[in-house]
Amino acid sequence: MKTPTLLGTLALALALSAGPAPAVVKTYQAPPDTVMLTPSTLPGYAKAQAVCTSCHSAEYMLYQPPNATRAYWDAMTHRMKTVFHANVDDADMADIIDYLSATYGNKQSK
Ligand code: HEC
Repeated sequence: MKTPTLLGTLALALALSAGPAPAVVKTYQAPPDTVMLTPSTLPGYAKAQAVCTSCHSAEYMLYQPPNATRAYWDAMTHRMKTVFHANVDDADMADIIDYLSATYGNKQSK
């Protein structure tokens, strides 16, 4: 076995003292979030726009069961408020729930 030379040892020490390679900065561009709330003439539409898409897109509404009842949307809206602290005014709750069940739930007219 070859004994390490002084030069070899120095080279190793230098290589180690250089530390880890600098982190490569990677950027990731998420696809644009284009799903908007479905427009409606109901007063809850504007109110939902004001609060319901500040954390996530309206895509979440689209993936809910189309036969969901008003009670389902009531529970969902309350869950957003109590669990995630969605800034929904109590006075706006009913309008928002009406809008959601009429637009995404079993009250859909289409
Ligand atoms: C403060 C942030 C915030 C706001 C505001 C908010 N949400 Fe959410 N919402 C979340 C988070 C976080 C999740 C993901 C929950 C999970 O993965 O369990 C979510 C998930 C959902 C889902 C998917 C179903 C589910 O149970 O995960 C729906 C539908 C939804 N939100 C509706 C709404 C509606 C309607 C409003 C307006 C009243 C609203 N959100 C406002 C944070 C928010």
